[in-house]
Amino acid sequence: MEGPAQTEVLDSGVLQLSSWWSHVEMGPPDPILGVTEAFKRDTNSKKMNLGVGAYRDDNGKPYVLNCVRKAEAMIASKKMDKEYLPIGGLADFTRASAELALGENSEVLKSGRYVTVQGISGTGSLRIGASFLQRFFKSSRDVYLPKPSWGNHTPIFRDAGLQLQAYRYYDPKTCSLDFSGAMDDISKIPEKSIILLHACAHNPTGVDPRQEQWKEIAALVKKRNLLVYFDMAYQGFASGDINRDAWAVRYFIDQGINVLISQSYAKNMGLYGERAGAFTMICSNAEEAKRVESQLKILIRPMYSNPPMNGARIASIILNTPDIRKEWLVEVKGMADRIISMRTQLVSNLKKEGSSHNWQHITDQIGMFCFTGLKPEQVEKLIKEFSIYLTKDGRISVAGVTSGNVGYLAHAIHQVTK
Ligand SMILES: Cc1ncc(COP(=O)(O)O)c(C=O)c1O
Repeated sequence: MEGPAQTEVLDSGVLQLSSWWSHVEMGPPDPILGVTEAFKRDTNSKKMNLGVGAYRDDNGKPYVLNCVRKAEAMIASKKMDKEYLPIGGLADFTRASAELALGENSEVLKSGRYVTVQGISGTGSLRIGASFLQRFFKSSRDVYLPKPSWGNHTPIFRDAGLQLQAYRYYDPKTCSLDFSGAMDDISKIPEKSIILLHACAHNPTGVDPRQEQWKEIAALVKKRNLLVYFDMAYQGFASGDINRDAWAVRYFIDQGINVLISQSYAKNMGLYGERAGAFTMICSNAEEAKRVESQLKILIRPMYSNPPMNGARIASIILNTPDIRKEWLVEVKGMADRIISMRTQLVSNLKKEGSSHNWQHITDQIGMFCFTGLKPEQVEKLIKEFSIYLTKDGRISVAGVTSGNVGYLAHAIHQVTK
């Protein structure tokens, strides 16, 4: 027989059973949300938030694309229903997503040797892939991530039951790609392991391999017989050209490498909170793709049953309506170009300030993020003395820089680095 249940008296005088959760420790705060919280509390009118990974226009305001507004108007005017989507998502959306990633003339599309399911933006799509690997990839539990990689990659794969390993990627001395280090480490990855690659606009460093380097990486992973998982969260957002940004993915497939791909529409369509994304697996043939698809559905069903429809509808209308798609391509290029121009302006303002450092990496890097190379104590000073908020690793979101504040940012960086 068990003894009487333990009780405790709350401040309010209520007697309750002792807690189930007294052993649960307070978790550390999210480093990026912490930056935003500190930014919000700051009363300096010149304050800048360079922590957050969302695009801002040249007035520092969130930006909803015109093509998105048009798609939303179409959805509203057609009074569409709110029925459940199929487990694998909206078919028009998944087909168009595969085409966007692979290119319209892709042999893979024609032969049908692929499967694409809708995911809950990039994160959820990565997690579907991670769970599939955990269940069906028999040769290894190890996923090799570039060092550093996006902070969420580690928990996504770890929580799915895989083990994390790393390969060298970034050279802090040059603020650029450690290509020989990466090649050396990849050549030692045990055969039939999983390797994660960022298709473009590597987060957090902004450092991407050049096309000749991608070719060497492809040859090496093929030789090592590695399973390649591409995270493509920024297609179009890096260079402004959706085809150029998908070049590595398509090249690998052309080399006969049957990759996995996660896509997100958070950045390139600005659909952050809509959670629209897709997960694609290239298979050996259409019959294999059907078997894989059936198991993906079995994985998804108990996780969230079926995906949310609104973002997928918006993205599908944009991708499948020629006029709106054209407008999107102009808008995504506009966002990429603004970021590229802020990089150039930051460097020229640093020169104007009299900085003698080599800041070329700022313009060599691409995408939303820039690894400035600032040391933690310099970051500390930027925050304390200039109200410029960024993560301790020196990463800035270039999307938070505008023509109005780039001068102030350059001045502050010069002050803490001279
Ligand atoms: C490299 C990378 N992958 C995936 C994502 C996923 O983002 P989301 O889940 O918002 O689509 C991000 C977002 O910052 C990212 O930087």
